[in-house]
Amino acid sequence: MQGHLLIQNATLVLPDIVVDGDLRVSNGIITSIAPGGGLEPNSEENFIDATGLHLLPGAIDPHVHFREPGDVNKEDLESGSRAAAAGGVTSFLDMPNNNPNTTNRISLERKISIASKKAVNHHGFFIGATNDNIGDLQSVEGMDGVCGIKIFMGSTTGDLLVHEQKQLENIFANTNAIIATHAEDEERLQQRSKDFRNRKDIASHAEYRDVECALLATKRASSLAKEYNHRLHIVHLTSGKEADWLYNNKGNMITTEVCAQHLTFDQDDVEKLGERVLMNPPIRYTEDRETLWKRLKDGTIDCVVTDHAPHTLKSKEEGFPNSPAGMPGVETSLPLMLTHAMEGRCKIMDVTKWMSSGPAKVYGIQNKGSLIEGYDADLTLVDLENHRTIYDADTWTRVGWTPYNGMELTGWPIFTIVDGNVIHKRDINGSLKGIAVGKPGDTGRVLKFD
Ligand code: DOR
Ligand code: ZN
Repeated sequence: MQGHLLIQNATLVLPDIVVDGDLRVSNGIITSIAPGGGLEPNSEENFIDATGLHLLPGAIDPHVHFREPGDVNKEDLESGSRAAAAGGVTSFLDMPNNNPNTTNRISLERKISIASKKAVNHHGFFIGATNDNIGDLQSVEGMDGVCGIKIFMGSTTGDLLVHEQKQLENIFANTNAIIATHAEDEERLQQRSKDFRNRKDIASHAEYRDVECALLATKRASSLAKEYNHRLHIVHLTSGKEADWLYNNKGNMITTEVCAQHLTFDQDDVEKLGERVLMNPPIRYTEDRETLWKRLKDGTIDCVVTDHAPHTLKSKEEGFPNSPAGMPGVETSLPLMLTHAMEGRCKIMDVTKWMSSGPAKVYGIQNKGSLIEGYDADLTLVDLENHRTIYDADTWTRVGWTPYNGMELTGWPIFTIVDGNVIHKRDINGSLKGIAVGKPGDTGRVLKFD
C-alpha cells in the first residue's frame, strides 16, 4: 500500500546516535523507530530488508537550477527531479533565473503547477528580485511553495541583478520572507573586467571574481540584514575570508551554505577539469577549501548544497571564457559527502545535519530532515560498503554529464523514499544509474515554509 512501509535491519542514522534497528512508516509518517529491531511486518505494508544499508533522512537540496521554463533542453522539472531522486534528495528548492525569470505570482504559480505534474520529490521555489518588483515580492509572502527571495547582487547566468544600494535597501526594508543572496560585488566585477579581457586561461576566472569581490558583497548583505532586522541566507560561500568573517559577525539573523564542490575541488582541479568546473562564484584555492571545512564543522556554515546548474557539454566545449558557468551536482552530492565521511573528513551524522536537518531549519520546513517519530517519511537507504565509479553515462540530468566523471564514490542511495513511497532504486550489483520508480506527479508535494 502507498505510504505504508517497514524497513528492517537498517543502520539508523538518528539525530544523535547511529544504531541498528527497524523503522515503520504509516500513511507517509515515521510512526515507530526501534533501535535493536523487533518490529513485525503486517500484510498492509511494503517491506525492505535493509541489511548492510544505512538509513538516513532524505537530503534537502535548497539550491538547484532546474531550467524550466526556458531551457528545458538542459533540464526540466522532471529530469531534475529524477536526478535529485537518484541522489537521495527528497526535497528541492529551485532558483528563479529562468526564461522568463520567476519574478511574480503568475510565474511562480505556473512553476508550482508544472512541478505538481512532473516532480517525484517535494519542491519549493524562490521568487527573483528585480529593481522594480517589490509589489510582486510582497504578493507571494506566505504562499505555499515559495521558499524565499533570491537576490543576485552580481551578474551571473541569466539577467537577474540588483546591486544598487537604494534598491537593495528597498527590498530589505519592505519584505519579510528570507532573502537568499548571491554575494559577488557587481561594481568590482565591472571595474576590473577590462583588466581581464585578454586573459584566456581558466585560472584567471578566480582571479577576476576574487575573494574581495565575494567578501564585499557578503559584508554588504550582512549589514543590510542587521540594519533592517531581516533574515538573510548567503548562498554558496566560497572563500575562507568570508567564512572567517561570518564566524565573528553572523549573529542570529544570518545563515549560510557551502557547495559540495567547493569542499572537494581546488585550483588544481580547475586546471585538470577545465570548463566542467567553471562556476560563479569560482572554485578557489586549497586554503579556502580547508577553511570552509573548518567553518562548516564549527557551525558557522549551516548547510551543504549543490547549486546544481546544468549546461550542455557542447557549450562547455566552447572553452573559457566563452563557456557558461555552472555544473550539475544534485545526484552526486550525498555520495560525495558520504565519501568524505568515510575518508574521515567528518562523521555520517554531520552529513545528515548539513544536508537534511540543516536546510530544513534554515528555510523553516517543518517535520522534515531527521529520523524522528511523527516526521515525514522522506528517507534514503545508502550503501557505504561499496565504492563505485561514476561516469557521465550514469547520470539522470538532461545534460548527461557530471564533474565527478571517473571518480570513485561510496554512499550511493539504494532506495530513495518520499512519504514512504520508493521513487528511485539501485541494485547493488546493477547499473549505477539505477531505476526510476513511480510516475511523475504521483509523489512529492509543494513545501510549506515557516
Ligand atoms: O555558476 C553559476 N551558474 N552560478 C550562478 O549563480 C548561476 C548558475 C546558473 O544558473 O547557471
Ligand atoms: Zn545558484
